[in-house]
Amino acid sequence: MGSKAMLSGKRVLLIIGGGIAAYKSLMLIRLLRSAGSAVTPVLTRAGAEFVTPLSVSALAGQRVYEALFDLTDEAEMGHIELSRSADLIVVAPATADLIAKAAGGRADDLASTLLLATDKRVLIAPAMNVRMWLHAATQRNLAQAAADGVLRVGPNEGEMACGEFGPGRMAEPEEIFEAIRAALMGGPLAGRHVIVTSGPTHEPIDPVRYIANRSSGAQGAAIAAALRDLGARVSFITGPAIVPPPPGVKVIRVETAVQMAAAVEAALPADAAVMAAAVADWRVVNPGAQKMKKTGAKAPALEFAENPDILAAVSKGKARPRLVVGFAAETEHLVDHASAKRLRKGCDWILANDVSAASGIMGGAENEVVLICAAGAEHWPRMGKTAVAQKLAERIAAALAGD
Ligand code: CTP
Repeated sequence: MGSKAMLSGKRVLLIIGGGIAAYKSLMLIRLLRSAGSAVTPVLTRAGAEFVTPLSVSALAGQRVYEALFDLTDEAEMGHIELSRSADLIVVAPATADLIAKAAGGRADDLASTLLLATDKRVLIAPAMNVRMWLHAATQRNLAQAAADGVLRVGPNEGEMACGEFGPGRMAEPEEIFEAIRAALMGGPLAGRHVIVTSGPTHEPIDPVRYIANRSSGAQGAAIAAALRDLGARVSFITGPAIVPPPPGVKVIRVETAVQMAAAVEAALPADAAVMAAAVADWRVVNPGAQKMKKTGAKAPALEFAENPDILAAVSKGKARPRLVVGFAAETEHLVDHASAKRLRKGCDWILANDVSAASGIMGGAENEVVLICAAGAEHWPRMGKTAVAQKLAERIAAALAGD
């Protein structure tokens, strides 16, 4: 990052919404300008409560636009022109209100009018209180914005200015810069296809009962999002997970391990595959076509058959991706068991984690992994699942670079 020419000739229209995170947007302006991009700043009325027009325009080296009537002067650009003269529109911080306006197509102030009038891509960096972020209305608006093609970076989880903890904190300026760079230049994985499996599988016993596991799909969804953010085309093959798939990836929903194996096969060829799914090792032979009934006699005995090992099949298959990454969930002898698994399955890397109850990882927000590759084991510090995903995505990009 930071090379002067990287974004030279690019123009970013930066809308600064109202939120304590607005100060980070000043840093973002500096990063963009030092990478050679021009920044045209727009400050909403609420944004001006947090940063001053003077500091924004001084850093941007341009006047700051604040209200629709700023544009009525003949000598000034009209809002249509302003919204289209940029290569990318960035909204940071994107408040719940700005996201709602964008999703609803409203145009009652300068910022929302620009978002509606533009023919360029829009990248939002949401920032809000955790409850506002989790509210069904915000999630609905985000889904609508994503469906309309709006790009997103963050928010991160962590301590918030309001004292609460959770998702809602705006992405750091460096992360927003990276998302802008990826949007403008194409990321390091542009043109690459990556398959990600995620979530649990459900193995039916009869039409109403199944065997499952506690995988939430959080780590797989975060990996798919991180790969997408680096520009990859992602096929996201997911069992019935609790965490929803990220926007901007191709979602293929399956229930059973056998269906997941077929979906992976159909998604090949790919440059890389990351098998984060917690695939059931066994399925019930001949699940009942009708609901099993109590007969009053003995409890039924279930007969099991082993499921296809998707990771091993892909690793050893004809259309093997250049890089195959598996997971190992272990409760003891983590590195030894995972290293043996890497060889047995024939994959390139294994991300091993300790899922013993004491680790609190299964279903939690954090993960502590060991990356096992041919060269040995690399312990990563405990971090959020999003951070693990980003680190893995960067490693995948580095491994595929120059190919
Ligand atoms: N995997 C798969 N298909 C299966 C089983 C597992 O693709 N039928 C993948 C998982 O997605 C994961 C890795 O293999 O990437 C985990 O291997 P697995 O043998 O299931 O590991 P554990 O369940 O940890 O195995 P065990 O406890 O038997 O060592």
